Amino acid sequence: MADTAKLELEGTIVELPIVVGTENEKGVDITHLYGTTGYVTLDPGYANTGACKSAITFIDGDQGILRYRGYDIAELCEKSTFMEVCYLLIYGELPTPDQFSAFKERVLRHSLIHEDMKSFFTSYPGHAHPMAILSAMVCSLSVYHPELLAPNPTPREMDQTITRLLSKVRVLAAFAYKRSVGEAFVYSRPELDYLSNFMHMMFTTPMNPYEPNEVIRKALDVLFILHADHEQNCSTSTVRMVGSSKANLFASISAGICALWGPLHGGANQMVIEMLEAIAEDDCNYKKYIDKAKDKNDPFKLMGFGHRVYKNYDPRATILKKYCDDVLNQLGIHDPILDIAKELEEVALTDSYFIERKLYPNVDFYSGILYRAMCIPTNMFTVMFALGRLPGWIAHWKEMIEEPGMRIARPRQIYDGSPVRSYVPPNQRPSPA
Ligand code: ACO
Repeated sequence: MADTAKLELEGTIVELPIVVGTENEKGVDITHLYGTTGYVTLDPGYANTGACKSAITFIDGDQGILRYRGYDIAELCEKSTFMEVCYLLIYGELPTPDQFSAFKERVLRHSLIHEDMKSFFTSYPGHAHPMAILSAMVCSLSVYHPELLAPNPTPREMDQTITRLLSKVRVLAAFAYKRSVGEAFVYSRPELDYLSNFMHMMFTTPMNPYEPNEVIRKALDVLFILHADHEQNCSTSTVRMVGSSKANLFASISAGICALWGPLHGGANQMVIEMLEAIAEDDCNYKKYIDKAKDKNDPFKLMGFGHRVYKNYDPRATILKKYCDDVLNQLGIHDPILDIAKELEEVALTDSYFIERKLYPNVDFYSGILYRAMCIPTNMFTVMFALGRLPGWIAHWKEMIEEPGMRIARPRQIYDGSPVRSYVPPNQRPSPA
């Protein structure tokens, strides 16, 4: 294969280097295109743009493959834990037993937040969406750790920031929930593991301690592993974009949380359950909802369906669909919403509109059913996604910060507004049509 591509611009041939990834993905390197020709590339929504090289996650959307640091997602779900995957994503390798103990110990050590922060939570109205609170609180951590905001952190400062954030984010999420239900904040218990501690902080009340449940802990492990990274998606690209200005980690992750909140991204998991509940109330009239999703004059979309990268079944949805049955059986729960989800999927996947556009269930289609089984309220679903995605965001921020010659992210544009014109005094401006 040639190692350059040739592009003809105004009669001049420009040679552009071809870049080939580990799995033979090919790209054309246009780094110097503007400098040498004055041309930019135009790619709204970045569907064809590789924003960086990255060694963290590999996706083959046509084959339905997802790997973290080379390890297949299904194997990690079966054999690993969320904490181990955090280490793998952030530091690049699976930890040795000693490395893993030290890492867990460091994370455990930071499971308290500054007492003053509790007053922030009580200042929000009770109905505040927990994603708004989580984003604000993660950014607020920067106020309490001014020693960790250096634009060029040392490896030690970087580790300190990472472990604090990994630990405290669970506390912030649980406190946001406690605020929304008007219950007392609960502190972590040192003897509990990362995920059981989160459930304890969510569900323990002074009258009723939360009993750790192995089925739920394993289900959370699987859900969070599946959410842990997904290369250059909207929220991760946001974290990279903000971090490229050398904003600190807390501020960068806070921005990523906001990006995740949108219904086209992580916010879809809340909307899937709301959609399935609406279908249940509508006597399971699947055709009505499929027709709405196909109607170009109707903004409704089948939530939890479609993906920018997967043009095949999302491997995360494959795992979750099967896992929903297992977990609900083990917990002795029959949730009619799971039956509705499966029936809706069947109707959609036999409809030519969805077949032609290669629209399959994505990770958000089945995740909410598992969260319901754990008594997580619907408005906390996207917060759960954020907790799972945190190590991926951190890994990308770290990879970017450590890259020699890192540059601020600054896309260009093709301006298509008005040409130059003179200022018009107020009394001479035409009335709007
Ligand atoms: N329901 C109905 N039609 C859809 C859906 C859907 N869920 N998703 C895509 N389409 C249609 C589009 O209207 C478009 O049709 P057209 O070719 O006739 O114009 C075609 O399929 C291609 O879709 P795009 O919008 O070009 O796909 P894009 O890559 O831009 O968007 C996205 C991907 C945002 C995920 C989209 O599929 C969607 O909105 N899905 C529903 C929301 C959702 O589930 N989001 C979670 C994604 S996973 C995650 O972020 C964690």
